[in-house]
Amino acid sequence: MTPKRLHIAIQKSGRLAERSLELIRAAGYRLNRSASDLAYSVENAPIDLWCLRDDDIPTFVADGVADLGVVGRNVLAERTAGGSNGLREVMPLGFGRCRLAIAAPQSFAYRGPGSLQGLRIATTYPNLLQQYLSEAGVEARVVTMRGAVEVAPRLTLADAICDLVSTGATLEANGLVALATVLESEAVLVRSTRSLDPDIDAVAESLTSRFRGVVASQDAKYVMMNAPRSALPRITEILPGAGAPTVMALAGRDDAVAVHAVCQESVFWETLEALKEAGASAILVLPIEKMM
Ligand code: PRP
Ligand code: ZN
Repeated sequence: MTPKRLHIAIQKSGRLAERSLELIRAAGYRLNRSASDLAYSVENAPIDLWCLRDDDIPTFVADGVADLGVVGRNVLAERTAGGSNGLREVMPLGFGRCRLAIAAPQSFAYRGPGSLQGLRIATTYPNLLQQYLSEAGVEARVVTMRGAVEVAPRLTLADAICDLVSTGATLEANGLVALATVLESEAVLVRSTRSLDPDIDAVAESLTSRFRGVVASQDAKYVMMNAPRSALPRITEILPGAGAPTVMALAGRDDAVAVHAVCQESVFWETLEALKEAGASAILVLPIEKMM
């Protein structure tokens, strides 16, 4: 019997493709690309990767063809908007952040959701848009397209659009401005609501735990410094997202200590300046490779 392997579906191309592969590598999995470019096998774990169109990933995962998937929350939510769909979000992955927004030509006078009443709004996310409009008590016509919705207003196919906005470049290039946010999105790990084979499930659990470690360590830094003992309360206050720091004696010094802390949030230059002002010296900020 061939050993069982976990199958993960990731985006073949597009905004999440490269980062999905990076995440898997950062979790310690060594990838071998298949001849076709459409699949990878993991050398050091029973895992196979399939590269698929993002819109197909939820279906494959829900049907149990793939065990896990990496998709934008927007893709997952659009599918879930109608009700249960056999899928659940396991964890957010911290990349591919964007929002689903309603946008209209710059000349449009927007005074809240009520201004959308009676408009035609083009989108590839009809369920999410309809849900948003219903919740806002607005009646508008949802024009479902397969792509290139940003050109709909210029072609007078619609008065407004509802589409993903990341950098905002697409809206700007088309003379559109974002009016309202329908959904905040980022890449998420999804799995089917049905139970997996116990062996496969164990592999999935281990992968999820490694992913959590990678995501948690992305912004995290190990910060070290020397400081007057009297400055400890102030320094603990300044360190972003650190629990109780480790305090160590300095040889031959009674008034000063070494302080080490894991900061869970980004450490900015401003933070370092504040630490210096508080009396810290020899401040070092180190990346954290793994965290569990
Ligand atoms: C989205 C969206 C816009 C663009 C917005 O498409 O439809 O075209 O990205 O990004 P920007 O604000 O950085 O310009 P995407 O490339 O994700 O492809 P898809 O939605 O067709 O899969
Ligand atoms: Zn797509």
